[in-house]
Amino acid sequence: MAYPYQIKSLEEYQQNYQQSVIDPEGFWANVADHFYWRRKWDKVLEWNFKDPDVKWFTGGKLNITENCLDRHLGTLGNTPAIIWEPNDPEERHRVITYRDLYNKVCQFANVLKNNGVKKGDRVCIYMGMIPELAIAVLACARIGAIHSVVFGGFSAQSIADRIQDAQASLVITCDGAFRGNKDIPLKSVIDDALIGCPSVKKVIVCTRTRTPVSMIKGRDLWWEDEIKQVETMGNPPCPAEEMDAEDMLFILYTSGSTGKPKGVVHTCGGYMVYANYTFVNTFQYQPGEVYFCTADIGWITGHSYIIYGPLSAGATTLMFEGVPTYPDAGRLWSIVDKFRVNTLYTAPTAIRSLMGYGLGPVNHKDLSSLKKLGSVGEPINEEAWHWFKDHIGKGRCPIVDTWWQTETGGIMITPIAGITKEKPGYATLPLPGIQPILVDETGKEITGNNVNGNLCIKFPWPGMLRTTYGDHERCRTTYFATYDNLYFTGDGCLRDEDGYYRITGRVDDVLNVSGHRIGTAEVENAINMHAGVVESAVVGYPHDIKGQGIYAYVITEKQSHEAELVKRDILQTVSRIIGPIAKPDKIQFVSGLPKTRSGKIMRRILRKIAEGELDNLGDTSTLLDPAVVEDIKRGRL
Ligand code: WTA
Repeated sequence: MAYPYQIKSLEEYQQNYQQSVIDPEGFWANVADHFYWRRKWDKVLEWNFKDPDVKWFTGGKLNITENCLDRHLGTLGNTPAIIWEPNDPEERHRVITYRDLYNKVCQFANVLKNNGVKKGDRVCIYMGMIPELAIAVLACARIGAIHSVVFGGFSAQSIADRIQDAQASLVITCDGAFRGNKDIPLKSVIDDALIGCPSVKKVIVCTRTRTPVSMIKGRDLWWEDEIKQVETMGNPPCPAEEMDAEDMLFILYTSGSTGKPKGVVHTCGGYMVYANYTFVNTFQYQPGEVYFCTADIGWITGHSYIIYGPLSAGATTLMFEGVPTYPDAGRLWSIVDKFRVNTLYTAPTAIRSLMGYGLGPVNHKDLSSLKKLGSVGEPINEEAWHWFKDHIGKGRCPIVDTWWQTETGGIMITPIAGITKEKPGYATLPLPGIQPILVDETGKEITGNNVNGNLCIKFPWPGMLRTTYGDHERCRTTYFATYDNLYFTGDGCLRDEDGYYRITGRVDDVLNVSGHRIGTAEVENAINMHAGVVESAVVGYPHDIKGQGIYAYVITEKQSHEAELVKRDILQTVSRIIGPIAKPDKIQFVSGLPKTRSGKIMRRILRKIAEGELDNLGDTSTLLDPAVVEDIKRGRL
């Protein structure tokens, strides 16, 4: 059997779950045994959540790329590792076998080495969804460089913040990226970002759109030229760097409720085992199947479920450059049809937006290859769930509603495809190894069923974050200080009469807009940088397609006669500071914000107003000036 640790039945799930709680170390050692280690670990787990200090497989030596590539060459050398579908359906797709991928990764790893990149160095990757992005990621891992991928929708300022925080020495980018009918000038954005980033010594630019780019002598290099140089050296192999299980594999920046995004750190051994285990089990992957995750590699879903999970399992992973609505709203279904896709893993926001186009784009597509469907990133509403089930899965494909986070490294609570009885809107049950607990505001456990609380995890799992880059204290205060001895997720959650979990959304000031995590504080800071803005407050509100929209209340120095123009200018500033994904959907100019006597903004009230619940604002008597609430209500958009 391909994956000895693949769960086959509900009984087996229950047994494995029990075992993982009674003997977590034995359980994970059994899974980890099926990977290639240069040296086995001395100890499976050492941990405390107080510092926090979590170590898995200490003393173990490995390289994740040997598990993703080398070990498959004997059996899967000619099997497609990556199928790549370009943005333009008229352009030829690419099929990259495990052997091709191995060669390309080694080649580019040698390019990095030739440019002075060493184990432990940080490399920032800002590319579109082309195979070279996956190659760049794996090449970093091959030589032990720590990759920090930044999503193509972030601005120069956001990239600069991330580069500075990580002190990256090299950037890998493209001339541009095709996304739908847009041509995004990535290199030009990088040029702006690098003005304030002296740590960056080299930039490697891969050609894709052939939009004109400026190339700075001594700093900027073409990917293709560098590859040629390795070829003239006779394409030497690139031995994988031996990594400690707890050496850093990557940093991925994500938004929290305060301050700038933080660099979530994942390490080599535990992350590999967890990404693989959760991939193989959740999706019940069978050798030969074609698996398609529509996420972008700039997010954790792309890291774990386009690259590391599938490739470590020897799976065929489909990578799509474009967007679901280009050239038309049937694009995803055309791709499923074209490549006989067996598993489709996507986001509720995509489903909701495609639902809006009706069944026309679905009707003439052959979706009979589909066996399993998945959803990730935000709560899936029942309407979208049923549409996905009925019209895409034709009623015969299980849907896995997978709950997890950048910090968790992999899927935590989810049905196991075809095994767990599903329930629309519910992530259902924890995977083996995951011990969820609901607590009240004071941290007291809420036991029993039919209850609501804050979702925490009480025992470590191999894929969990180890720290936030350069600031361990921030990791402690954000995740481990709210409740003693618990990892706090930031999500609210309900446990129903069957013990099934339903994630109800963030309980902190983090928004989830089209499945993208955005901190309200970040958006406020960006708005406040706009000339003439005195103060602002940002909240989320229900949005039909995006799940949540961004509602901004803004106080300006003086009232403008051209309010609409000012709004557009503010959007432009937010785009510049964070990126287009953080642009508010609504901006309401107000004369004041509801504050307590101690000066704290009462977001609860602003949220209610944004949601349109005007009659149900709760107690406003503690406000410094209750009259502002009436004002805001009158001006509501
Ligand atoms: C939300 C994405 C409901 C949740 C993998 C979490 C979900 C945040 C689900 C993490 C789901 C993710 N149902 N909510 N199936 N999956 N979320 O870090 O609020 O980008 O805390 O990781 O997305 O977002 P992140």
